[in-house]
Amino acid sequence: MCGIVGYIGNQSALEIILSGLQRLEYRGYDSAGVAIYEDDQIHVHRALGKLIELRKKLDGDVPGKKGSVGIGHTRWATHGKPSENNAHPHSAGRVSLIHNGIVENYIELREELKGDGCVFSSETDTEIAAHLFNRALGTGLAPFEALKDTCGRLRGSYAFLAIDSDNPDRIMVAKNATPIVIGVGEGEMFIASDIPAILGATRKVIILEDGDIAELSADGIRVENDGKEVKRPVETVTWDPVTAQKGGYKHFMLKEIHEQALVLAETFRGRLNIQDKSVFLEGMNLTDEEVSQIDRVVFVACGTSWHACLVAKFYFESLTGIPCEVDYASEFRYRTPVYSDKTLFICVSQSGETADTLAAIELVREHAKTLAICNVLGSSIARRVGDVVFTHAGPEISVASTKAFTTQIVSALVLALWIGERRDAVSAEKRGEIISQLVHLPAAIDEAVKVEEQVKEIAKKFHQASDFLYLGRGSCYPVALEGALKLKEISYIHAEGYPAGEMKHGPIALIDEHMPVVVALQNSPLLFEKTLSNLREVHARAGRIIAVTDVKGNAELAEVCEEVIEVPYLSEELSPLLLTVPMQLLAYYVAVLNGTDVDLPRNLAKSVTVE
Ligand code: M6R
Repeated sequence: MCGIVGYIGNQSALEIILSGLQRLEYRGYDSAGVAIYEDDQIHVHRALGKLIELRKKLDGDVPGKKGSVGIGHTRWATHGKPSENNAHPHSAGRVSLIHNGIVENYIELREELKGDGCVFSSETDTEIAAHLFNRALGTGLAPFEALKDTCGRLRGSYAFLAIDSDNPDRIMVAKNATPIVIGVGEGEMFIASDIPAILGATRKVIILEDGDIAELSADGIRVENDGKEVKRPVETVTWDPVTAQKGGYKHFMLKEIHEQALVLAETFRGRLNIQDKSVFLEGMNLTDEEVSQIDRVVFVACGTSWHACLVAKFYFESLTGIPCEVDYASEFRYRTPVYSDKTLFICVSQSGETADTLAAIELVREHAKTLAICNVLGSSIARRVGDVVFTHAGPEISVASTKAFTTQIVSALVLALWIGERRDAVSAEKRGEIISQLVHLPAAIDEAVKVEEQVKEIAKKFHQASDFLYLGRGSCYPVALEGALKLKEISYIHAEGYPAGEMKHGPIALIDEHMPVVVALQNSPLLFEKTLSNLREVHARAGRIIAVTDVKGNAELAEVCEEVIEVPYLSEELSPLLLTVPMQLLAYYVAVLNGTDVDLPRNLAKSVTVE
């Protein structure tokens, strides 16, 4: 989720690139850099921190201010900590290159390039692409052919911009599974990862497609895909700059709900091996022996992340056979926890900065094994634990977490498979089954988002209710909790999540004809029937039931429900993910109808760094 900007034309590239990067600031970043061709050479400037740090470095008489060809980047770290060395552009010989995405096979390529005498100065996956491109150019290939050759070696997602000091009249571009847009001007071209970066300069854009390799000059573009020249249409953008930052959506929350299919694919990209029925987690410090000794897993987290832990507990118990508990970090930190060096503490945090979660991990990290499931590389939590599984959700801007939740759950599932495999606790067959289902998850999530129109209508019927009850059983009880939390956070309506089977022990007294009851009902032979009988109890008391389910066309369910929202079914393990999507959309549309500040709800902060 890095920001990319490039320029080729007759103006000074530097200012255009810096202001483009500034407009991408909402994506969040940890370092920035530019490469500008000027006076027969490429000048690279990079800085750790926000763009202002780079601007400070560029104060005064530094080379690169006059050049009219350049590329710039703001980094959201995925491989390698945030540092100046890891900041883009990365250079090799004649080449400077920037990248958004993840190169999956970078470890093997790095070894190959090292064997060829290439020297690496960063820990990034990107630098290998710079070396590959430079090596290909060195064999006499033209830039276009050299870039094709480079991309042919890479697996993963990428948007690359590269400049070559021997061919300074062009910028080379490659795109695969990561967005890139070209802005068309008069005798000048702009390139960016996101439309807002170039809106100030032009409204005419060309959207590149996966597999495109392009060569841009000041007044033209040549695009090839799969070895054949292709024409990509020039379109006109009508969005205002703020809408553009939100990808055309009214709120970041809605954008992030829609983004889930894409980022879930990023979460498991490079981690699943379908043939071997095994998972790969990069850079883990936990040894097989340590994994085999773990006798207890304790999850600690807050808010939505805590709900993700509740789902994770199901995965850990069934796939690793290790006893597992889930604790609120804010409670845990003030207790005297009992644990040993065989306990594995897993803290889950989107931001990696939540004060309570950080304090909980500080309490135990000296004497236990610690691991984080976290979205922000270089964050305080990521730096304090023994191992980190990054969620790769990209910056989450809306205060209400959506994509963070689903990527945390998938990360936990991958981690449970990884541990289960090392402990021989899960058969290869079961691993293979889950891995193949995961591969289908992004498409199923995209399908689930299609209930949006139906949910909008349901929100119109229920948005004035003063209370909601959310129910679920098994791994869908956390989904009910998360649905209720989303509604509370952004619509300010009281909502309570409850295990469906517990309803008769109290909350059933609340049910009357005014009470909407939202239920997450998974396709499970046992739990579906059990939950259905709880719904009959609600129905008998005139409660208004909204069911979210991955069971298709069940007549008995339809009989007791006022509304049934159906999403695709993949497996019981993945039900919580798919059932979450309508819950997020329902909270969103209720809040919109009630006119609240959806992305910045009252009294809340994105990252709670105080007690
Ligand atoms: O950054 P973290 O995941 O540690 O944040 C934890 C909670 O503060 C967070 O999930 C909060 O509950 C969200 N606003 C939920 O939408």
